[in-house]
Amino acid sequence: MSKILVTGGAGFIGSHTVVELHQAGHDVVVIDNLSNSNKVSLQRVSKITGKEVPFYQVDIRDRKGLEEVMAVHKFDACIHFAGLKAVGESVAKPWEYYENNISGTLVLLDVLRQHNCKNIIFSSSATVYGDPAQIPITEQCPKGQCTNPYGWTKSMLEQVLMDIQKADPEWNVVLLRYFNPVGAHKSGTIGENPNGIPNNLMPYITQVAVGKRAELGVFGNDYDTPDGTGVRDYIHVVDLARGHVCAIKALERKCGLAIYNLGTGHGYSVLDMVNAFVKVNDVKVPYSIKPRRAGDIATCYSDPAKAEKELGWKAEYGIDEMVRDSWNWQRQNPEGYPEN
Ligand code: NAD
Ligand code: UD1
Repeated sequence: MSKILVTGGAGFIGSHTVVELHQAGHDVVVIDNLSNSNKVSLQRVSKITGKEVPFYQVDIRDRKGLEEVMAVHKFDACIHFAGLKAVGESVAKPWEYYENNISGTLVLLDVLRQHNCKNIIFSSSATVYGDPAQIPITEQCPKGQCTNPYGWTKSMLEQVLMDIQKADPEWNVVLLRYFNPVGAHKSGTIGENPNGIPNNLMPYITQVAVGKRAELGVFGNDYDTPDGTGVRDYIHVVDLARGHVCAIKALERKCGLAIYNLGTGHGYSVLDMVNAFVKVNDVKVPYSIKPRRAGDIATCYSDPAKAEKELGWKAEYGIDEMVRDSWNWQRQNPEGYPEN
C-alpha cells in the first residue's frame, strides 16, 4: 500500500496519523474543509517529517471537488477522519451532524468506488457500545443505544460500511473504535485545538493549567468506581495514529470487514488524570465536584487484545506520557494554532 487519501487530515488525530504514515514510508494526500482545523497543523507535520503534505481544501460532500482530487491522484486506500465530533453540539444541531457525517461519507464512498479505491479505514468510537454490556469491552460486545446524534452517525456509518462490504467483497473495510485519545506529538508542535469551551476532559485540564479557565468541573463523584469519578481508557494519540498504520496491513491482507478497539485496556478515573497531570507537570489544576453530566456512563475501557493479535499493534505510552505531552503542546501553544 503506498498512496493514502486522508480525509480530515488537518485535525487532531489526522495530523498525528499523517506523521506516522510518512515515517512508515507512505505517500499521503490530505483533504479537509478546515471547518474544525487549521492548515498550520500540516505545515508543522511537514516540519516534523521533512516531507511535503499535498493538501486540498475540499469538503467530503463536494462530489466535484473529490473527483478533481482523484483525477490527479490514484489512491490505494482512504483513511477517513473527516466529520463533526462535538457531542453537545450534535444534540443541538442533529441535522447538521447527520448531513455532514452521513451524507459526506456516502458521497466519499461513491467517488472512491468509481475510482476503484475500495480500501477504507474508518474512525469509529467506543461510543457505539452505548452503556457497554461488559467491561473490558471486546469487539464481540453488542453495539448499544447511543446517547446523542454524533454517536448515532458513527453507529450508522459502521452499518453502511458493513453492508457495502458485504454486497461487494472487493471492499476491505477496517472499523477502528477509538477510546479516549489524549496527548500530542512529543515535539509539542501539533496537538488538540478545540474551538470554544472544551467538552473533553484533557483539553479542559490543560486550559485550566495554562490559566485560560479558572477550574475544572469534575462531573460526578458518586459513580460505582474506586474513587467515585468516571473511568475511561485514555490512549496517547501517537499510539492511536500508529494503530492506523498497522490497520493498513489488514487492508493489504484483503481483510474484508475487520473491527478493532484501539485502547490501552487500562481504566483511569477523572481524579487519576488530574493527579497525574499535577504530579508529572508540577502545575496546579484546581477543581470542584459538579453534578453528573447527562449521558455519561461510569466505566468504559477496552480489551485491546484483538488488535495486538491480528495487527501486531499495542499502545506503548502510559498515563505519564499522556499528561506530559498534552501539557507540552498546550504550554507551547496556549492559544492553539496561529491563524494562517
Ligand atoms: P478533528 O475535528 O480535529 O478532525 C476532524 C477533521 O475533519 C477536521 O479537520 C475538520 O475540519 C474535518 N472535517 C469535518 N467535516 C468535514 C467535511 N465535511 N469535509 C472535509 N473535512 C471535514 O477531530 P479528531 O479528534 O481528529 O477526530 C477525527 C475522527 O475521529 C472524527 O471522525 C471523530 O469523530 C473520530 N473520533 C474522535 C475521537 C476523539 O476523542 N477525538 C474519539 C472517537 C472518534
Ligand atoms: C466523550 C463522548 C464520546 C466521544 C468522546 C471523544 C459523551 C457522553 N461521550 O466521551 O461520544 O467519542 O468524548 O470525543 O460526551 N469530565 C469531567 N469534566 C469535564 C469533562 C469531562 O469530569 O470537564 C469527565 C466525564 O464525566 C468522563 C471523563 O471526564 O467521566 C471523560 O470525559 P470526555 O473526555 O468528555 O470523554 P467521554 O465522555 O468518555
